[in-house]
Amino acid sequence: MVIVPWNSSIPAASASSSSLPVICEVVFVLGAPGTGKGTQCQLLQERLLSKEDGSEQHQLWTHLSAGDLLREERKSGGSELGELINSKISAGELVPSSITVKLLENAIIKSNQETHCSKFLIDGFPRGQENMQAWESTMKHHTIKFVLNFECPEEVLVGRLLERGKDSGRVDDNMEVIRKRFKTHQENTVPILTYFGKQHIPLHTIDSAKMVEHVYNSVEPLFL
Ligand code: C5P
Ligand code: MG
Repeated sequence: MVIVPWNSSIPAASASSSSLPVICEVVFVLGAPGTGKGTQCQLLQERLLSKEDGSEQHQLWTHLSAGDLLREERKSGGSELGELINSKISAGELVPSSITVKLLENAIIKSNQETHCSKFLIDGFPRGQENMQAWESTMKHHTIKFVLNFECPEEVLVGRLLERGKDSGRVDDNMEVIRKRFKTHQENTVPILTYFGKQHIPLHTIDSAKMVEHVYNSVEPLFL
């Protein structure tokens, strides 16, 4: 597997004063488009709070969405990088892993410096073997606690994505690209699920066809 080199114009986030890498705990959150990865991660971030007496409560887990980081970079990045990201997202294909991992690395460092939270829900990553390889080449010092994988029948997902597409403003929430995203998920993401088992990384598969709160009730106990 070849990691596409990218002479990145993404600057590194500035390192902390100690310059030692922060060691974080991560949960990878996977599932086909529309399975509710982002929704469940948001709820976990909002609802799982520290229980310290007297002091202010703070979130235990920080949600980072690989897709959101790419969309953000597309807006603010240089035109060449922005165009590359846009062309991949518009085609329902994967952006070169070196870009995605660099954005995740920067987001983890920045968020940790701001909030001191060192537990991350990483939504929509790794989307394939190449993503995983890129992660392992620079982020192996972090601990992967487990992988959460949402499953839901395709006809339900299509309904959700088309509904979201009415006001999401996303270039990829339309039938043509939705089909391509499902294909990318099937060809790239599903095969990586077996890799976690080989690495002794626990994989929890959750049925996400149900209502949001029902799904959350199956997810939350994994974090308690
Ligand atoms: O997860 P989300 O649906 O927001 O991802 C939108 C798009 O971003 C994907 O279809 C893909 O083009 C890109 N992406 C990627 N690599 C990832 C996550 C997202 O290329 N790990
Ligand atoms: Mg999402």
